[in-house]
Amino acid sequence: MAPMVNAAVTGPAKDRPRVLSGIQPTSGSFHLGNYLGAVRQWVDLQEQNDAFYMVVDLHAITVEQDPATLRENTRISVAQLLGAGLDPERCTLFVQSHVPEHAQLGWVMNCMTGFGEAARMTQFKDKSSKQGSDRTSVGLFTYPILQIADILLYQADAVPVGEDQRQHVELTRDLAERFNTRYAPTFTVPKPYILKETAKIFDLQDPTSKMSKSASSPKGLVSLLDEPKVSAKKFKSAVTDTDTVVSYDEENKAGVSNLLRIHSALSGQSIEQLVAHFEGKMYGALKTELAELFAEWVTPFQERTKSYLDDPAELDRVLGLGAEKAREVASETLATVYDRIGFLAPKR
Ligand code: TRP
Repeated sequence: MAPMVNAAVTGPAKDRPRVLSGIQPTSGSFHLGNYLGAVRQWVDLQEQNDAFYMVVDLHAITVEQDPATLRENTRISVAQLLGAGLDPERCTLFVQSHVPEHAQLGWVMNCMTGFGEAARMTQFKDKSSKQGSDRTSVGLFTYPILQIADILLYQADAVPVGEDQRQHVELTRDLAERFNTRYAPTFTVPKPYILKETAKIFDLQDPTSKMSKSASSPKGLVSLLDEPKVSAKKFKSAVTDTDTVVSYDEENKAGVSNLLRIHSALSGQSIEQLVAHFEGKMYGALKTELAELFAEWVTPFQERTKSYLDDPAELDRVLGLGAEKAREVASETLATVYDRIGFLAPKR
């Protein structure tokens, strides 16, 4: 990413662009779409940027969570992020609820967002229409506003997210500008950094919809913590078409194209190279090779993840340091915000 102008007014001077993103701890295992679509780019971005990554447990409780499962899934999420290559020496990795400023700035942002403005968020409209208004929490309604607080607290320059989150980042920009205009320049106005379309991974059984844990059949979902044998089976029974030629055609050969994209992402070979490589071979060859390639990547990933899960003290240490680094930035932003709003400073 090109270096960006540091427009922050608060916070320590930034020598590199700051990026920030979050992932929900709502399932025990990440799936291949989470990894290839987001987490892998997070790993790349930590090299050249001042990166902040968090597991958003406050967001997770916008739908009901079992306490023991939430705690477990939060740990597993952190361990997987480390297993995937996030390096606590190079980025700030933390759990959202460890930094109380998120909820605090979230309240301020709630008070600055119009009801109609929030009601236009398409993700909310989709989710709430599926579950009905009595089963939809007010927290789900204000979910994007907590996300705004997540981003603005850290004066983030860029927010790496999938296309589905663009609207939330746009709302964040509106709110940052609103606050800056109403009070004084306070927040960096962040840009969405939309992750590559080519990283879009679709369901193996329904290759026209995104891979997602809410898929209709578990056979279409590749979970990173499953036995590689289980995933190999899923690759081998992936839906393709009645043609036999391996070629890239998103519209007419969605299944094969999806397999080619996954192969390309894991092997680093271009789609053209792969099409040439599979010339004269059948779909079975592509599937078998893909299953092997995936196993080669996922086995060491699982070992690293497991080593963090087996050492809870180390995981806690990493998260303690992450929360401390995060709070340094977040508390300074919040103090400025509270002052600008007109809150009386507490006597210490
Ligand atoms: N809403 C994001 C998602 O579902 C997760 C998220 C929460 C996030 N806070 C964030 C992403 C801040 C980027 C920045 O993917």
